[in-house]
Amino acid sequence: MEKFEAHEHDVIVIGAGGAGLRAAIEASAMGCSVGLVCKSLLGKAHTVMAEGGIAAALAHVDPQDGWQTHFQDTMKGGSFLNHWRMAQIHAQEAPDRVRELEQCGALFDRTPDGRILQRAFGGHTWKRLAHVGDRTGLEMIRTLQDRGVHQGLDVYMECTITRLFTDGGRIAGALAYWRETGRFVVFRCKAVVIVTGGVGKAYRVTSNSWEYTGDGQALAYDVGAELIDMEFLQFHPTGMVWPPGVMGLLVTEGVRGEGGILRNAQGERFMWKYLPEARRHEYAADEAEARRWLDAVVEGRQTDARRPPELSTRDNVARAIYTEVKEGRGTPHGGASLDISYMPAERVKKKLPSMYHQFMELADVDITQTPMEVGPTTHYMMGGIRVDPDTGAATVPGLFAAGEASAGLHGANRLGGNSLSDLVVFGRRAGAGAASYARALAATPHIADDAIEAETRDVLAPFERTSGESPYGVHQALQECMDTFVGIFRVAGDLERALGTLETLKQRARDVRIEGSRMYNPGWHLARDLRNMLTVSEAITRAALLRTESRGAHSRLDHPGLDPALGRVNMCVTKDGEAMKVAPTPLPEMPAELKALFDAGAAGTAAAPAAAAPATAAAGKAS
Ligand code: FUM
Repeated sequence: MEKFEAHEHDVIVIGAGGAGLRAAIEASAMGCSVGLVCKSLLGKAHTVMAEGGIAAALAHVDPQDGWQTHFQDTMKGGSFLNHWRMAQIHAQEAPDRVRELEQCGALFDRTPDGRILQRAFGGHTWKRLAHVGDRTGLEMIRTLQDRGVHQGLDVYMECTITRLFTDGGRIAGALAYWRETGRFVVFRCKAVVIVTGGVGKAYRVTSNSWEYTGDGQALAYDVGAELIDMEFLQFHPTGMVWPPGVMGLLVTEGVRGEGGILRNAQGERFMWKYLPEARRHEYAADEAEARRWLDAVVEGRQTDARRPPELSTRDNVARAIYTEVKEGRGTPHGGASLDISYMPAERVKKKLPSMYHQFMELADVDITQTPMEVGPTTHYMMGGIRVDPDTGAATVPGLFAAGEASAGLHGANRLGGNSLSDLVVFGRRAGAGAASYARALAATPHIADDAIEAETRDVLAPFERTSGESPYGVHQALQECMDTFVGIFRVAGDLERALGTLETLKQRARDVRIEGSRMYNPGWHLARDLRNMLTVSEAITRAALLRTESRGAHSRLDHPGLDPALGRVNMCVTKDGEAMKVAPTPLPEMPAELKALFDAGAAGTAAAPAAAAPATAAAGKAS
């Protein structure tokens, strides 16, 4: 057998975004040897795409806020499909994690009297998002990275994990290759924390960059972990739609939090039409109240005015923009107009510096003068690896997960800003969970040589073929399939067609041929990523087919209402031999004291999606 480079750690953390860094810091602080493995360069993570802020009930701007309201907002936003315990821990611990970031050197924007400034975001009752202009995720990564490096973490950059190994059902390590040389490396460990983020690259229009191919979810699925809620994929309402090279790039919700107004091509402020009837009372009654809310934001004072319609939850705003465009009221490049140009230019540049430069440099648009053109973009996977809320433990011994790769906190739809708090709250808990597990294990489990050899043969197989297509064509076909049939609006017929196409694509992916050597070979890297994207795409599609209702980010034109029975289950995806199995599993029961926080009868009967699936929308045809 080829001699492989090998490393041994107590805990291997796969992924180095906010959750990975926070997990690694915690496990290391508990005395474990930690290896932090990332596919990309350290610091290049989707965390930076959470631009507008971190949600935490600090109550620095709106003193009425508290963890209970944050908990309620998160559960309502998730259509009550969230794991109540995760939502509770998250709401209770987020303020401490923000203070901890400050102690580590993060510099949040301040109120005139020196408290942390918090801005409004969709679905949050109060101004709750602590922020650093529109670069909050970046500041968090910078802070956590500094802290991790000083703590002496061993970092393995540009290193892709291809498989996890188990020994008697327990995690034993992983195989990886260096992206630069193509050489293999074996990691032996007692525990693995998966924090690899999302799956956006299975779609064509996405805010995600090349790294986000569902690796963690697929690695976990392959060793027997349960995936839940995979049908719930968040389409962020505002991505760039022009020019084509940057289509999907995120336009932060912070724009709307600072007063950005959405209009269609006819100049109509269309979000008024799409507010969910059951939650209409949470929004301004009319333009005058929306104006009072905005004046209070600009003047930095409290108000009893309710938030404007643009700050509805993301699922709702994304459906609204999609519908306006489909019904012929879109802007020239097929989006909606997002206008902040009526504000003083200096304020826009101060509050939204990245957006100002992004549009100026990439689209030649000065957002202080001209509205932006925006449309939905695949942004975030609510589903993922099922974990224990307190420890981050997955259903396989020794496997832990946190952040976007895990599931439970966000239910059917995530509120903006809850991802950054998720990362630090549950990254810390998963790091602690993995460290405790590793410390209790006397010896590192064994990885059989033949398992390593079989995996290396499999990874190198595309070089051995004398014929076969390139993986790029298969990837393009996958993105086309997911955008077209498994987009914002779904119907059974489209989902079934998608499953048929995915079967064909799986065979094509198995047969791809790679030319050249293992050094710097992006085609070969994609061939491996494709397997993961196909696994998560199948999971999304199968779960979406089984969920015959519209809830949160999952909208079925053929089942436009809520099904109360489906409100009590998660769709759970597991590997059954070579087949994928999807079955409903019951949601844990919320304790009475938390149920009491909701108005009588609210839990389990959340408002029907406001989208009111437009009868005229071309079924399942994503933008
Ligand atoms: O719009 C944004 O700034 C994104 C935030 C998030 O996804 O949490």
